[in-house]
Amino acid sequence: MKQIGIGPVTFERSPDGLGLGTACPRVSWTLPDGSADQRAYELEVHRVTGTTSTGRVPSPERSLVPWPVEPLRSRDRARVRVRVWTDDGLVPSRWSQPAWAEAALLEPADWVARPVGGAWPELELADRRPARVRRDFTVDRPVVAARLYATAHGLYEAEINGVRVGDDALSPGWTVYGKRLKYRTYDVTSHLVPGRNAIGAWLGDGWYRGRLGFNGGTRDIYGSDQSWLAQLEIRHDDGSVTTIATDESWQAAPGPILTSGLYDGEVHDARLADPAWSRPGGADGQCGPDGLCGSGSGGWTPVVVRDRDPATLEPDAGPPVRCTQEIAPAVVTLRDDGSYLLDFGQNLVGRLAITVSGSPGGCVTLHHAEVVIDGDLATDPLRQARATDEYILRGDGTERWEPRFTIHGFRYATVNGWPGAIAPGSVVARVYHTDMPPTGEFACSDPLIQRLHNNVRWSVRGNLVAIPTDCPARDERLGWTGDAQVFAPTALFMYDCTALFDSWLTDVGLEQFPDGTIPWYVPVIPGAPMWTPIRPGAGWGDAAVLVPAALYQATGDPELLRRHYRPARAWVDLIARLAGPSRLWDTGFQLGDWLDPTAPADDPAAGATNPYLIATAYFAWSARHVSLTARALGDLAGAAVYQALADEVAAAFRGRYLLDGGRLVSDSQTAYAIAIVFGLLDGASLVQRAGDRLAELVRDNGYRIGTGFVGTPLICDALTSTGHVADAYRMLTQTHCPSWLYPVTRGATTVWERWDSLRPDGTLNPDGMTSFNHVALGSVADWLHRTVAGLAPAEPGYRKIAFRPCPGGGLTSASASHQTPWGRAAISWRITAGELAVDMTIPPNCTGSAHLPGRDPFELPAGTHHLVLPHPLEQAPPLGDDTNA
Ligand code: BGC
Repeated sequence: MKQIGIGPVTFERSPDGLGLGTACPRVSWTLPDGSADQRAYELEVHRVTGTTSTGRVPSPERSLVPWPVEPLRSRDRARVRVRVWTDDGLVPSRWSQPAWAEAALLEPADWVARPVGGAWPELELADRRPARVRRDFTVDRPVVAARLYATAHGLYEAEINGVRVGDDALSPGWTVYGKRLKYRTYDVTSHLVPGRNAIGAWLGDGWYRGRLGFNGGTRDIYGSDQSWLAQLEIRHDDGSVTTIATDESWQAAPGPILTSGLYDGEVHDARLADPAWSRPGGADGQCGPDGLCGSGSGGWTPVVVRDRDPATLEPDAGPPVRCTQEIAPAVVTLRDDGSYLLDFGQNLVGRLAITVSGSPGGCVTLHHAEVVIDGDLATDPLRQARATDEYILRGDGTERWEPRFTIHGFRYATVNGWPGAIAPGSVVARVYHTDMPPTGEFACSDPLIQRLHNNVRWSVRGNLVAIPTDCPARDERLGWTGDAQVFAPTALFMYDCTALFDSWLTDVGLEQFPDGTIPWYVPVIPGAPMWTPIRPGAGWGDAAVLVPAALYQATGDPELLRRHYRPARAWVDLIARLAGPSRLWDTGFQLGDWLDPTAPADDPAAGATNPYLIATAYFAWSARHVSLTARALGDLAGAAVYQALADEVAAAFRGRYLLDGGRLVSDSQTAYAIAIVFGLLDGASLVQRAGDRLAELVRDNGYRIGTGFVGTPLICDALTSTGHVADAYRMLTQTHCPSWLYPVTRGATTVWERWDSLRPDGTLNPDGMTSFNHVALGSVADWLHRTVAGLAPAEPGYRKIAFRPCPGGGLTSASASHQTPWGRAAISWRITAGELAVDMTIPPNCTGSAHLPGRDPFELPAGTHHLVLPHPLEQAPPLGDDTNA
């Protein structure tokens, strides 16, 4: 056979195999593009105790294959390689490159570290100056390997001997800290030197005790301490282990960070810096020219040791938040008042890094905003987020600085107090988000639709920061369940964000009320001022069912369904109780089709669609998905129960909301879209009538969008499946407000929260809730992938792929690709001279079903297929006619 290159080999969803949170990590590998089908594999696992092989296992599986040997114990390492047999012959492939799997600390008893922080009476002080903690230690024997296991109450950045450990940011991310706090594992072998060493960490407030939530927010949600919890384990060549753990032997001191908050930004006085603080002997302190000492108020003092139940510590199995890109300002404008306005050309999430030199005590102030109006930053949409970083210069040469424990959502920044002129490269934006592997691409011939897709991608990036958030700029940035529910499928096509959603869903389960209520956002901010108290809400609470379902669809991994099954069922059971025998969920407060463009700006829940119609539709849809989940997990009795419930709810929906003649009680875009896509209408003719009415409403509305959070992800599917794809395209290509392309024509580089966050007259939407980086309305990108390009899973995990391109809208080409668990799947089509040329790629061991225009559906085997079909070149819809005015 041809010698194919297998790999890389990976474990669970870990980017590097280090610090795995399970004793039996599942193993995955990839075959090269174009490989023949895998017929069998052999895994070889090398451990100190010896080498074990599975022998030849006849199986096509190569994603999350069960751990083949005895379980790992804490800290165990195993070297794993794989070879495969393909249908090219009897000879196996070459072995893959070996990959290391290493278990984290799997038992609470592995932890000796305790949280340590400053002992000064911080709560009595007006400002809470972030602390650093440190200690010296000696390495007296040769080192084989060293690992640092670290987490914090608050945020941390670790250093050893003056060198940063890792490149993760905002660790440990945000979880329901009281119940689970994630820690990361770092390989710090190369940080250590023989003799004296030092270790330390910067600390910040972060989500643990910083201000969170709107209307002023809440502090100290999880505790009022700021502490580091770390365990450095050094393995020597004689088999002995030295453990340096946070305990009473450590010292703490405030540092040059004066204040730090996720919303408000960071203030850093570089005159207080003592650059040697994390080097051996660094606690001796250094004083600045003005007499201020590095240790600020009194030098390094013994830490206070706090408590943390080690059973609540959980290895972080997914990629961390980190900087993924740097962007130079596109335009730098010197303003009359001597300040600079920087335009980065892209609304992004991250922070600025500056390289500056000037006099001691000079202060550079960086304000951030998503929008500029009349030449100035529009800060109203930020509400009470200060979004301002300040750097006070040391004044002794070139200084490079970037804040540590904050991020902002911004395209523009003003710079005040810059000494001299801003030179190229001296201010750059650094983009931060959870560093998920990119998996999906989309391209098409229409530059505006392409830009829309790019905007959705930027919004996905900016809103996947440790948890799925609603927006990255204002004083919110919360894990709103409805937003995640709506955008998960889109995000999962573009990125492998499985680990992030999996972790967040664990918190959804933890925050679920005993009666099954899912909070509006997770993690919850207890006692936060809210305009609506926590209570069950359709579309939002359904995240407990529909996000796991989206994960399963993307990955085919039933483990994800199993893990989140209990909360999903408890949610549907709650709704069943609320609905009672009528099977209609028609009581209580609902957010409805949130941000329907016809809703008043200050009451986005008051859309055109009856909120109880939506609630009952979601009830049926979630019951159906719980049934599907039960079936996938082998619980056939459960599957039958929830299927029957879903059918009863759908019947109740029709009984209550379907009028004679096929209209719905709410004669709105969202009502028909949800009824069609959620399968609530029985019989092809009712569905067709609903689709026809929907198309009529869309046309009557001049192809402007009439949907909010609920209808937006569904409407194009509803039109497409009822034969109105041309109407879907006309709506997609509409540029007048409200529409998907209106923001694009206004220069948007991310998706807006409101259809008119910036109104056609150029003014900001005056409502307090106006972000420029919200993914929900961008969920149409999922339709771009599945229908415009035509690539979708026909079975969970893409074992079978549906190619269903629907050319239209004047597009002459479109393409999409996705890195499936089985390998790369792709489609690309192009219309030329009356012909439609389609290329489809199916990974090894998978099949495809092709649904091409004018052809009966047919099946395709793995491989690349090229087809040419006759196709009349469709005219682009005229712009500026009455439908587009
Ligand atoms: C958030 C939304 C969220 C909504 C629901 C807003 O403030 O930004 O995206 O889903 O509230 O009330």
